[in-house]
Amino acid sequence: MVETDGPDVCACERCPALVESRSRIVNGVGPADAALCFVGEAPGANEDEEGEPFVGRSGSVLDDALRDAGLARADVRITNCVRCRPPENRDPRAEELDSCADFLDREIEHVDPDLIVTLGKVPAQRVLDRDVAITKEAGSVVDARLGGESRRVLLCLHPAATLYDRSQRESFADAIGKASALVGASESDQARLGDY
Ligand code: URA
Repeated sequence: MVETDGPDVCACERCPALVESRSRIVNGVGPADAALCFVGEAPGANEDEEGEPFVGRSGSVLDDALRDAGLARADVRITNCVRCRPPENRDPRAEELDSCADFLDREIEHVDPDLIVTLGKVPAQRVLDRDVAITKEAGSVVDARLGGESRRVLLCLHPAATLYDRSQRESFADAIGKASALVGASESDQARLGDY
């Protein structure tokens, strides 16, 4: 049985392995009319404990980059492709991404953001429905069909990538800066930024 309250999922048992491994369903946070929506992969241990996406070490990296780009965490929407923590932090399986897909679609439709930022390879591939070489494609802006319409998507590294490889920090910070510029820019700036 699945119950939802707006974009929130209150009960779901579609993925038996995730029902076993999760403590709770982790829904997206942030304003329901946010201009900017970040989409990660799936909750980790901290997120599963606190019931909020990106609150662990990856969340700190994201928060710092947002602050440096002049954005507050409270002003953006943050969600995941999959709402339940996979066992031992493995990647979500294709069937789990498929099972959770309509929840993300419904959330995007509800929030209707100006820009979606995918954090890492898994959400980029899910949103674009193709293989993505994320270290090569990070920073690019593409259009993708999501939540009932074509939407602007900025591909970004996962914040955890900067923890394993500090040389990726600049690329991550640049992408968040670009996201900030894209949603804050005037219409003439938007036309110029459209070249990204
Ligand atoms: N990594 C993700 O992809 N999502 C989270 O919520 C936390 C870590």
